[in-house]
Amino acid sequence: MMSPFTIAIDGPAAAGKGTISKAVAAHFDLAHLDTGLLYRAVGARMLMGEEPISAAQTLVAADLENPDLRTAEVAQSASKVAVIPEVRAALLDFQRAFARRAGGAVLDGRDIGTVICPQAEVKLFVTASPEVRAQRRLAELTERGFETDFDTVLADVKARDDRDMNRADAPLRPADDAVVLDTSELGIEEAVAIAVKTISAARD
Ligand code: CDP
Repeated sequence: MMSPFTIAIDGPAAAGKGTISKAVAAHFDLAHLDTGLLYRAVGARMLMGEEPISAAQTLVAADLENPDLRTAEVAQSASKVAVIPEVRAALLDFQRAFARRAGGAVLDGRDIGTVICPQAEVKLFVTASPEVRAQRRLAELTERGFETDFDTVLADVKARDDRDMNRADAPLRPADDAVVLDTSELGIEEAVAIAVKTISAARD
């Protein structure tokens, strides 16, 4: 493939973006960037006492390897630093360059189709009901050895959705030209199959 081909995958917390993005990147042999990790890394550094804007401005690759990035505490912290325009601005160039790298890329996040890469060749907005998303996140956290319960996870997911959708800068919303994929009633294989089909149609 000669020109960059960017696939933007956005959606609310625990909707299945990560799993779908990884599968799609493997299928089409594209590089993948989980942009949530950038915000989680800034959030983790804030929890360690750093000022979030300077943390975002000095982020390094090693920050993304912090094993604690997947905790619920870091997720909440990520959505708090994500409302700060200077934090978002500090992370912009890296994401844009990744999106347009030779060979193409898959990026997943909240604002890829709307702000980071409005010219993406394919935009998917992956969503599901809050209850389904909380159930999936509970299974994931339990599997990783964290002790929590459904009501706590549901409250966390809703608090984060609320912050992500109602911030002034780059709020979570589907781009006008995004294909909405509601995975509430879909298994992971079905969801991936629909995503692959949608992308294949756009590539032809
Ligand atoms: O994996 P999950 O969907 O739970 O969250 P994530 O994608 O790791 O994102 C963590 C938080 O980072 C989100 O709740 C957003 O507040 C923020 N984020 C953002 O603002 N913009 C992005 N492109 C990606 C994440």
